[in-house]
Amino acid sequence: MTAKKRAKGKRDDNNSYNFSHQMGHILYMAQLTGNLDKKNLVESMPKPERDRYKQAFEILVKKEVLLKAQKRNKKPIFSINPERAEEIKPLISGFVRGTRREQHRRQIPSNPFFHRGPIKDIGHFMGRYDVISHIFDRLRHTEDCSIIGPRAIGKTSLLHFISHNEVVKKYHLDPKKYIFVYYDLQRFGENTQTKDFYYEMFSKTVSQINFNGPLKEEEIKKITKETDNVNKKIGRSLFEISDLETLIGLLSERDYKVVYLFDEFESIANNPNFDFSFYGQLRALSGNPTFQVAFVTASKKSIYTLTFDEEIKTSPFFRYFEDFKLGPMDSEEIGEFFDLAIENGAVFSNKIRTLIEEWSGGHPFLAQLCCDYFFDLVVTGEKIKPSEEEKHLEIFLSRHKKHFAYFWSQVNKKQQTCLWWLASGKRPGSDYEGILEELEQSYLVEKKDGNYRIFSQAFEKFIRDIPFFG
Ligand SMILES: Nc1ncnc2c1ncn2[C@@H]1O[C@H](COP(=O)(O)OP(=O)(O)OP(=O)(O)O)[C@@H](O)[C@H]1O
Ligand SMILES: [Mg+2]
Repeated sequence: MTAKKRAKGKRDDNNSYNFSHQMGHILYMAQLTGNLDKKNLVESMPKPERDRYKQAFEILVKKEVLLKAQKRNKKPIFSINPERAEEIKPLISGFVRGTRREQHRRQIPSNPFFHRGPIKDIGHFMGRYDVISHIFDRLRHTEDCSIIGPRAIGKTSLLHFISHNEVVKKYHLDPKKYIFVYYDLQRFGENTQTKDFYYEMFSKTVSQINFNGPLKEEEIKKITKETDNVNKKIGRSLFEISDLETLIGLLSERDYKVVYLFDEFESIANNPNFDFSFYGQLRALSGNPTFQVAFVTASKKSIYTLTFDEEIKTSPFFRYFEDFKLGPMDSEEIGEFFDLAIENGAVFSNKIRTLIEEWSGGHPFLAQLCCDYFFDLVVTGEKIKPSEEEKHLEIFLSRHKKHFAYFWSQVNKKQQTCLWWLASGKRPGSDYEGILEELEQSYLVEKKDGNYRIFSQAFEKFIRDIPFFG
């Protein structure tokens, strides 16, 4: 075979040679925009060229030069694999500009991991699919739910998420027929009377119907006219629970379902004014067969264990709730954080992904902090060398010490000792078995292959560095 033929054979074997122009163009655009939508890109090309661009795109994906990220129910998007960035430079260089897609110039990447309080934008809410779908199964029949989880695990974010119209629709409920009333009970102090609680419930429902309610105009008029009269007649001091019942009755008659989202439910648990009869009354609202009402509570502990009052514990109120425990997220859920990074112009390498999973232990708040940290490093082009991982963890911890100090302050002395043993790589004695189980239940330790370990490497280092113990 002549040298020419050999060269041709090689070119045919290596399909990519024939598409190098298209590949260079695609990668050039990936660099400009941060991420690519395949269909959109192919269709933006002149018709006779489309097939070649499609094939070139497929080669790049097959060769893992372009990485795919797919958020649930969203179109896949592709970004340049950061580990291949150097090697593809020659393909991109000298490329000719001029397609429509190139007009979408890449903005300066903006860090999407800024949340420290509840997530309100549904596009930034990750995971929790199973819990959400079960909650909607119950809300479909206006059944009560109780969300339980430690601090910053995402309870309030979840309450906001499930009440969003788009989400309600996605789970096949009619957002026009469901009225979600969010209610933070934290603001209620020791002197709060149950009437204050109900009046707030009443006025919040009215404002939800007036300002945000997806009701038809004539229905709004009818309901608010009647409730306005109630408002005028009574004011706060003359308000009676029956006024709330009237309002709920009116809505239920028109087939509207009201879902009360009681956040920080523990705030009323130890208030003596909220006694046995209060829970009975509340139950009567959600249990009344002519009312279409459901309660969703959020609290750090099971609502049943919130009160020490034995009589209250016997209230039927507690019997109708199904508990949903929120704990750390799994890899698939944490993967959605990485997709969000890609959408905003930063691709985390596999090493960074592993570090985020290990430092955060799947805790969404810590994952948010870790992603925030690495996002800034990646967009400035900084490489994470293995020898510098410890240094990065130190910088990260020094920025966020107060959050780890909070985890630490939430456990008692015996639990602290047990955590310190684990952090120092020692095995706590058998008398710590019960304590380890308690810590496991609050997600601070996890059991793997029969051994306990601290859920997050960052928290583990924080404990190791505590001078008092060390
Ligand atoms: N599903 C989620 N997706 C993305 N980030 C989340 C999610 N859940 C929680 N977070 C992160 O955790 C932080 C705390 O969330 P949130 O305020 O909802 O928790 P919480 O359980 O209500 O906390 P607290 O007990 O203090 O009231 C958010 O700012 C966000 O960074
Ligand atoms: Mg909260």
